[in-house]
Amino acid sequence: MQNNYILLDGKIVSEHLKKSFSERISKLKRKGILPGLAVILIGDDPASQVYVRNKERDFIKLGLNSRVFKFDKKAKKEDILSLIDHLNKNDEYHGILVQLPLPEGIDEFEIVSAISPDKDADGLHPYNIGTMTTGRECPFPCTPHGILKILEFYNIDPAGKHVAIVGRSNIVGKPLAILLMQKRNMGNATVTVCHSRTENLKEITRTADILVAAIGKPEFIKREHIKDGVVIIDVGINRVEDKLSNKGYRLTGDVDFNDVLDKVSAITPVPGGVGLMTRTMLIHNTLYLAEKKAGLI
Ligand code: GUN
Repeated sequence: MQNNYILLDGKIVSEHLKKSFSERISKLKRKGILPGLAVILIGDDPASQVYVRNKERDFIKLGLNSRVFKFDKKAKKEDILSLIDHLNKNDEYHGILVQLPLPEGIDEFEIVSAISPDKDADGLHPYNIGTMTTGRECPFPCTPHGILKILEFYNIDPAGKHVAIVGRSNIVGKPLAILLMQKRNMGNATVTVCHSRTENLKEITRTADILVAAIGKPEFIKREHIKDGVVIIDVGINRVEDKLSNKGYRLTGDVDFNDVLDKVSAITPVPGGVGLMTRTMLIHNTLYLAEKKAGLI
């Protein structure tokens, strides 16, 4: 059975946003400023390596400055903190990002907190999380902000709607809940955050007008989790074994796409949905930080 659903295409929304980026970049360049991002990659997680390469490619394509600093997974905390301190003081970089997750034994809170809040390209510094929570402008975490941009582009206003978020991570679930509940454009939603200890998950998700899956479990959300006409945002990017693929794996989301398709009114694909938006909002944040430093905003 097929229904007329809308594919929420991250590529189209990204291209739309990038048009406004070109103007912002020209304005900065006219002031002699080349926006720059420093990315710190620690360890050898294959997915992180792909993400970092893609981010670098995005920046180069827009004529921006981007450099990746790599550390071995056994790197000393002092060496990482010393690089962050150096980058905080270096005017070439307007944004700094530490790719997550970090290898075991390295304290994420301590590392992210060392980044100057004025250079926090990910919007994950505790100061900025607090600023966002109190409803003020600051760099917002890229994935939640990207999700709001997808909804806005397709005129899906969460105001007054029940949004169920499955997943309570610091980089997606928690900040997305905060943004959606704010008294602001693309906010005003009634938000429920579900997680691995939620007892009546299906009963909750079945009442959601918008369902966000951010749990990191391949194809976890099935048709029995949703009501007819739901909007689904799939944040998951999971590698699952696929002997038929050249790479030996394929990418799939946290939602069983084919299982839910005839019940949804709109859905993001994986790949080609939220992942692209995360990358795009990272560019936005870097420009925002450069504009703020230059006194343009
Ligand atoms: N790993 C997965 N998503 C992200 C992200 O948005 N930022 C960082 N720093 N690491 C990630």
